[in-house]
Amino acid sequence: MKSTQYFYLLIIIFFFLLNLIPSPTSATHDNTNTNTHTSILFTTSGRLSYAFDIFAVPTTHSPTKSNELQLTDGNSINFNGHFPASLPPSLVSHLPDHSLITEKLPFHLIYVTERNGTHHIFYDAVFHGTSQSPERRAILELSGSTRVQVPLVGVDQSDGRVSLKDKPSLAGESLIYVSTHEDSGVPRRSWAAVYSTHLGSGSTRRLTPKGVADFSPAVSPSGVWTAVASYGKKGWSGEVQELDTDIYVFMTRNGSGRVKVVEHGGWPSWADDNTIYFHRRCDDGWWSVFKAVLSGERGVDSVSTQRVTPPGLHAFTPAASTVNKNLIAVATRRGTSEYRHIELFDVVSKKFTEITRPVSPHAHHLNPFFSPDSSWVGYHKCRGTGNGRGSDTLLLENLRNPIPGISLFRIDGSFPSFSPSGDRIAYVRSPGLYVVNYDGSGLRQISSRSAFSTAWDPKRKGVIYTSFGPIFASERTEVDIMSINVDDKDLSYKQLTIGGQNNAFPSPSPDGKWIVFRSGRSGHKNLYIMDALEGEAGGLRQLTEGPWTDTMCNWSPDGEWIAFASDRENPGSGSFEMYKIHPNGMGLRKVIQSGTGGRTNHPYFSPDGKYIVFTSDYAAVSAEPISNPHHYQPYGDIFVIKSDGSEIRRLTHNSYEDGTPAWGPTFIKPVDVELPNGGHPCSFEDCHWLSVRPNVSVMDASFGLGSAKIECAQ
Ligand SMILES: *[C@@H]1O[C@H](CO)[C@@H](O)[C@H](O)[C@H]1NC(C)=O
Ligand SMILES: *[C@@H]1O[C@H](CO)[C@@H](O)[C@H](O)[C@H]1NC(C)=O
Repeated sequence: MKSTQYFYLLIIIFFFLLNLIPSPTSATHDNTNTNTHTSILFTTSGRLSYAFDIFAVPTTHSPTKSNELQLTDGNSINFNGHFPASLPPSLVSHLPDHSLITEKLPFHLIYVTERNGTHHIFYDAVFHGTSQSPERRAILELSGSTRVQVPLVGVDQSDGRVSLKDKPSLAGESLIYVSTHEDSGVPRRSWAAVYSTHLGSGSTRRLTPKGVADFSPAVSPSGVWTAVASYGKKGWSGEVQELDTDIYVFMTRNGSGRVKVVEHGGWPSWADDNTIYFHRRCDDGWWSVFKAVLSGERGVDSVSTQRVTPPGLHAFTPAASTVNKNLIAVATRRGTSEYRHIELFDVVSKKFTEITRPVSPHAHHLNPFFSPDSSWVGYHKCRGTGNGRGSDTLLLENLRNPIPGISLFRIDGSFPSFSPSGDRIAYVRSPGLYVVNYDGSGLRQISSRSAFSTAWDPKRKGVIYTSFGPIFASERTEVDIMSINVDDKDLSYKQLTIGGQNNAFPSPSPDGKWIVFRSGRSGHKNLYIMDALEGEAGGLRQLTEGPWTDTMCNWSPDGEWIAFASDRENPGSGSFEMYKIHPNGMGLRKVIQSGTGGRTNHPYFSPDGKYIVFTSDYAAVSAEPISNPHHYQPYGDIFVIKSDGSEIRRLTHNSYEDGTPAWGPTFIKPVDVELPNGGHPCSFEDCHWLSVRPNVSVMDASFGLGSAKIECAQ
């Protein structure tokens, strides 16, 4: 052999040996988790169309479209802004030398942003015209020279732990904010707590006592005090509208001197160091703003509270002016508009002044805040298609996953499922059933009917199962399971169940011979197994039986188990535990229960069958629901657990409803995938329970109203 041939041979042998030696990274992954290089999808209803940016309008001019400024950069979603009263040296050092001495002072904005798959708090200095002649164009023509952007806290400031970040404000060099990076350690106890990060040194301390959850922090004008909405020791009892919180005050410096100042209230805002405005839902059904005056030497001896906004409209999420103690900015819902708007309210003259309706009448505006001199009011809204980058709606939004090696995505639809090879996704976007390649190509509507819960046949290529009919319906509702060959030109359908009776959640056995599903045919929703090809005509067996609901079943990839959700411990209560059972009806076991009265729903096995992903209220709520658009179940987060019920891990951290997860066998590249048709910007809804005839509905939505009778008197 010539020496070059030896050389090539050696190279071939070298690469052959290299292949035999497992690489260190894959070896460690295999030891700890055989699901690396898989993907999880889930749903967050409405969230992918938020496209929030922070805007501001002057309070000194009558508000018009031409003096509204977009302050944030049109990337991802930006919300819950705060204009700091003074700028600490660590932020000043980021600004160009001349910027604070020119006539055109920049906006200094602190806000929450969801980007790169998790929450961050950013500081932006936005350069613009004078407040006398706002130069809107300068903002729209964003370039490096008109904006300084500084990420303040994110994953790295939370020891690498993914978390929700919320409601930031500044006290000197300290950033005060909510984070959920510490496990409360107790099922159904919120992880939301207030932290302080020193911007100079980066050191972070927790201000909320262990075992307590705090929401919506606000720092007093002097910086000495912070007010929060908190459960204290009592904890969350399942509220999804108004939280049953009280208002507490503590020292911003170290969390000490903590005292309850108001029973029943949320979203505090300080006018001065003794005056707090807050919101509460009254016994007459209206959300109203209240004023609490604290008196006492050091700390608080007595508090007088007074309702300041009248019944007849909802007024909430107040922001107090620190210049005029009688001026507040509020979000309102009035009978005269379908939309949430920002208004000013003078507490003495009882006069409202519209801020956003003249600017954009057909948009929701959320969570107002004042500039330090009260000459501007900020808020967030969907940037829509006119401003900024417009509609960047996504099909798949990549999220940072605390479990390495597993790609995590939010999909613009619900009930997703993966094809056996993981290259296609079936999902529902109301109303209609779609199939798409995981890279966003080949999007195709399969049906325009109202479908739910999709599944792919593991053996017959292109065959999917779903059920058509209304969701959350009674046992006798007409819902039937179909198989559809989506590779057929004419989409051949086959109806597998007969005669309605709420047949849903089909999940095939790994050999493709059987389908487990839930049916209301006995008068209760229980699980059944039928022939996959011929449907129940080809063979039907009842798997579970009892006067309760068994539902959301999923067959494990090794064929051994069927996981499902059941309310059998307390039928009809709304509480669901997760169980698993062998397909032969033996070995029933509870996998997990989320505290007393909790929910664990939509189990879905990992491709190796060793783990289950599901949605749960295990981490309770993470923010006041009224500060967001509508979510039916704002406590929903995605969790993974070993299928023996051990090692629960939280994957998502937000104040939205995350649900219907699915786990696929391939690793989808962890980058966002845009919707080929541009998407559906701003197609979210305001809280359904903000009824403009609240007296009708308030009786059945009585959370936290027990003590409200006297408190709400005018
Ligand atoms: C987001 O990712 C991009 C690209 O990796 C990076 O340049 C940027 O700094 C990241 N932003 C944040 C806030 O982490
Ligand atoms: C908290 O700070 C206050 C004011 O500086 C101080 O008096 C108090 O001792 C501190 N408490 C703790 C627990 O550090």
